[in-house]
Amino acid sequence: MKIENTFGINVKARALITYDSEEALREALAVIHEKYADLPLLLIGCGSNLLFLSDYRGVILKSEIKGILLKDETADEVLVEVGSGEICDDFIAQAIRRGWYGMENLSLIPGQIGAAAVQNIGAYGVEACNIIDEVRGISLADGTEHTWKCTECGYDYRQSIFKEKLWGKYAITRVIFRLSKHFVPKLHYGGLIKAIEQAGLSESTLTAEQLRQIIIGIRRAKLPDPAEQGNAGSFFKNPIVSEEKAKQMLKEYPDMPHYPASEGVKLAAGWLIEQAGWKGKSLGPAAVHDRQALVLVNRGGATGRDIQRLCEAIKQDVADKFGIELEPEVNFI
Ligand code: EPU
Repeated sequence: MKIENTFGINVKARALITYDSEEALREALAVIHEKYADLPLLLIGCGSNLLFLSDYRGVILKSEIKGILLKDETADEVLVEVGSGEICDDFIAQAIRRGWYGMENLSLIPGQIGAAAVQNIGAYGVEACNIIDEVRGISLADGTEHTWKCTECGYDYRQSIFKEKLWGKYAITRVIFRLSKHFVPKLHYGGLIKAIEQAGLSESTLTAEQLRQIIIGIRRAKLPDPAEQGNAGSFFKNPIVSEEKAKQMLKEYPDMPHYPASEGVKLAAGWLIEQAGWKGKSLGPAAVHDRQALVLVNRGGATGRDIQRLCEAIKQDVADKFGIELEPEVNFI
């Protein structure tokens, strides 16, 4: 069974099982426990954050739970329950049409809603955890349902308990979002204000749909379309270093991009990779994108091992040049 993945890597699994409701998931789990008890189990969304190093010798479970349901509202906010199998960007587009705001900056991020909650996707100064109210999931071991309030999800920059302690233990079924009825654009991320001006728009009259289109334009200009060139978006996390380390580096590189983080200073991995000379370079069929060095691409026919080899070479050079250990953002399978 061929497995969907945006890197465009040709891999197979023993079986692929989809489910479109909690009941269907419980039935699927019963089949898995009976027929495939000895095989490992992997939960995937659209495969937009996975790097398969080889064929998967187990069973893949994929959510097709759909549904966008307004659960509650006040004069200022809505609580919306979304099936984990909904496409994230489709939900964002619909939310804007219905006057529910807060997700505009996440426009065009590939993947499903469930994966967005696992990965704590983020862009242009907004992270999924800013708008998630609750996450629901079902235990793969016994089919029981569990609900986590946002504060219980262990959210941090591209991090959550679902990626760590609970990895492979629960299938996310629904995510409840808390969105605003008032559009308050978040434009503090470098480049957005300039892009709005360049588009001939004004900050004071900007609509949510206009902001969405600006974000889509920036992403399309910088990031390769997985349908044309296999990739998984940012391959590495932006590293967080101590204030002292950042100060030292700024002495040598005064123009180095840097942002305040909860502990220390966040640097731009793309900038570090470019400085290490890797932007636009390739190693066999694996390459570093020529417009955003944080993205590794499959130039055609690459295996997971080819991408991994490139990842290791970049990590080594960045470590040698800057003494910084880059950490992949994608999950290696
Ligand atoms: N930069 C370079 N060279 C490069 C790439 C970037 O010098 O090749 C510099 C840019 O000029 C800028 C800074 O690095 O000063 C930051 O670049 P950018 O604004 O493109 O964002 P990023 O930090 O590289 C992060 C997210 C993206 C998200 C953008 C926008 C991570 C790992 N990545 O990238 O997320 O879209 O910010 O908010 O945090 C993803 O997760 O797949 C993803 C694309």
